[in-house]
Amino acid sequence: MAEFPFSTEEALRSFICRYYQENLSLSAQARYCERRHQGLGRSQCTCYRPEQLRVLPEELLAGACCCGNPLEQAELKAGESVLDLGCGVGLDLLLAAQQVQPGGIVYGLDMNEAALERAEAYRRQLNLDNVRLLRGLIEELPLAEATIDVIISNCAINLVPDKERALREAYRVLKPGGRLAIADTVLEGEPSDLLRREPQAWAACLTGSLSTAIYRKLLAATGFSDITIELAAGDWDWPAFLDEEERQRLQGRWLSALIRARKPAA
Ligand SMILES: C[S@@+](CC[C@H](N)C(=O)[O-])C[C@H]1O[C@@H](n2cnc3c(N)ncnc32)[C@H](O)[C@@H]1O
Repeated sequence: MAEFPFSTEEALRSFICRYYQENLSLSAQARYCERRHQGLGRSQCTCYRPEQLRVLPEELLAGACCCGNPLEQAELKAGESVLDLGCGVGLDLLLAAQQVQPGGIVYGLDMNEAALERAEAYRRQLNLDNVRLLRGLIEELPLAEATIDVIISNCAINLVPDKERALREAYRVLKPGGRLAIADTVLEGEPSDLLRREPQAWAACLTGSLSTAIYRKLLAATGFSDITIELAAGDWDWPAFLDEEERQRLQGRWLSALIRARKPAA
């Protein structure tokens, strides 16, 4: 795993928090992510079917920052409890809340207060009463153990400094037999010196990305079973700080992954 160009984990988290907070307030368009989908919009987002996105406010889509569609493989059912790690402005959170009705509940966790405020506004707009927003850290979940049926996450685990701790926490709060369905970026091979040095490379979901082999190893070491990882080419723009040489080096190595695993039944 790459070391980071920050003196402490807390410094890395603050940098990431500020980066996304600034992106959120950049414009009326609320561009949440430098590494956005090409105009992530109803007809253009390739991770979701257009009919899935039609139920969400247009403004939410402009503020989302996804790298896959964890709901495609989460197979949510009515009545289930779901936790969205790093929910941002609520893209998967609010779709999931509709899928687990009636009787289900969805928790959205993020460390970014501004994003949570937006998610709350969209929740009200959609009149969903089965959503709970939690401000906190993925590495320190404010939930009791064995309370969640399904954990989803979209493009957030790569930003967490201590992945082992994050996965241990996910395992703790899942019920026996509970599922993990994550979309995340992966980086095959070692990050270059430039990526190791550049703080923005962490915030842009690059340097903190695990390789598929390490992802699989960490999930297995945490106790997860039935691990599958599907790779797809990422359809995001290159971050501006990467020169042409670095882009060539990353071509085909910085990918979008759909990761599925299960906490064994007791
Ligand atoms: C790339 S954005 C993705 C947002 C959302 N999942 C989406 O698809 O639109 C990553 C989110 O993860 C949150 N995040 C990153 N590290 C975190 C941590 N350690 N604890 C809690 N939230 C974190 C950020 O604040 C940000 O909202």
